[in-house]
Amino acid sequence: MAVEFKAGLKDVVAVNSSITAVDGDQGLLSYRGYDIRDLATQATYEEVVYLLWYGELPTQPQLREISRELAAARPLPQPVLASMRTYPKRAHPLEALRTAVSIVGMHDPDAASNKREATLRKATRLTAQIPVMVGAWQRLREGQEPVAPLVDGSAAENFLYTVTGRRSTPVAARTMDMIFILHADHEINASTFAMRVAVATFTDLHSAITAAIGTLKGPRHGGANEDVLEMLLEIGDPSRAARYIEERWEARSRMTKEERAKPENRIPGWGHPVYKVDDPRAGVLREMARKLVSETGNTKVFDIAVRVFETMHRVSDLPVNVDFFSAVVYHALGIPIDLCTSIFAAARISGWSAHAMEQYNDKLLRPRAHYTGPPPRQFVPVSQRS
Ligand SMILES: CC(C)(COP(=O)(O)OP(=O)(O)OC[C@H]1O[C@@H](n2cnc3c(N)ncnc32)[C@H](O)[C@@H]1OP(=O)(O)O)[C@@H](O)C(=O)NCCC(=O)NCCS
Repeated sequence: MAVEFKAGLKDVVAVNSSITAVDGDQGLLSYRGYDIRDLATQATYEEVVYLLWYGELPTQPQLREISRELAAARPLPQPVLASMRTYPKRAHPLEALRTAVSIVGMHDPDAASNKREATLRKATRLTAQIPVMVGAWQRLREGQEPVAPLVDGSAAENFLYTVTGRRSTPVAARTMDMIFILHADHEINASTFAMRVAVATFTDLHSAITAAIGTLKGPRHGGANEDVLEMLLEIGDPSRAARYIEERWEARSRMTKEERAKPENRIPGWGHPVYKVDDPRAGVLREMARKLVSETGNTKVFDIAVRVFETMHRVSDLPVNVDFFSAVVYHALGIPIDLCTSIFAAARISGWSAHAMEQYNDKLLRPRAHYTGPPPRQFVPVSQRS
């Protein structure tokens, strides 16, 4: 029996995958061999979805076809919308999304099949509908009627439309498109791993995606996005940023290891289990945020973020992660704080689906536990226990 134990499975290679490569030492990320910075600045999200699912960038006819299929699959089945109307208004957007995905799964015409063609059709529907669900829930919880999705336009433009009910500017649509590309996949992160564990049992795609969304919600994963924005708003002014970080960092030196491990005692948007240097997506996002705020003139949150960034690099050797500057971009786009992680899910569904299709051809994922409980002992009937 294998006895080697790696806490948190850190650096354990759990699957073979030809989708995404992360080089944590060099700060590199690529999908199917293409550098994320090239994809984010030169491709569209629809091209990236095709790349993730089929392994190659699409030709123009292939791109037209996948874009048409995705746009046609956007409308939510009526029972899903009806169920969303019953959720408590205070439900976190990811809770609403997790439940809506579970419900849409019961209405999916391919629910009973896990063949590749059926999974592709389900992936197309989920990739088209998850952004619509996020937009519909945002409107419902604010007492507004959901709007029918666009029949044309990109996934990113449609997402903004379903949130606001208005067609976005080309700059906002392209910004969201880049956000979707940057978040489309990230190797075997916690939600993708949870999803692959589920798929490896040969359960259906919707069940596995429900597991992924639940996993994404935690503050050690996608939830950090929201914590970043709360921190930047709490700092309130660029002049207070350095002191705020220095004080929080200094306070950590007086804490026990258990206290230091608590999310509230960590700086959100910093640290990563794989990257030893800054996440390459953070640089793209910082530039996007800079452009957005220079257009609106509302630079305060961006300026606070830059001061936090500089101070963190001075006081710590932690790398910045994807959540830090994406939170600034969401703020600049006027997106509510607690919707940030749902945008992550709205993009990541493409990567989760690619991993699902890969995992259906692979083995059951069933690691072992290093047992740390009592040694074998004699059973005592309840009547004789003192
Ligand atoms: C993402 C994260 C869970 C990765 O953790 P990890 O690589 O497994 O690292 P560990 O939890 O083992 O922490 C290693 C050390 O770095 C410290 N550390 C890691 N991230 C930190 C952060 N954001 N702020 C302060 N200290 C941090 C830990 O406290 C620990 O130090 P210690 O041993 O002195 O207590 C962690 O960096 C984190 O909690 N970050 C904040 C949340 C976040 O931004 N999540 C989004 C990830 S994309």
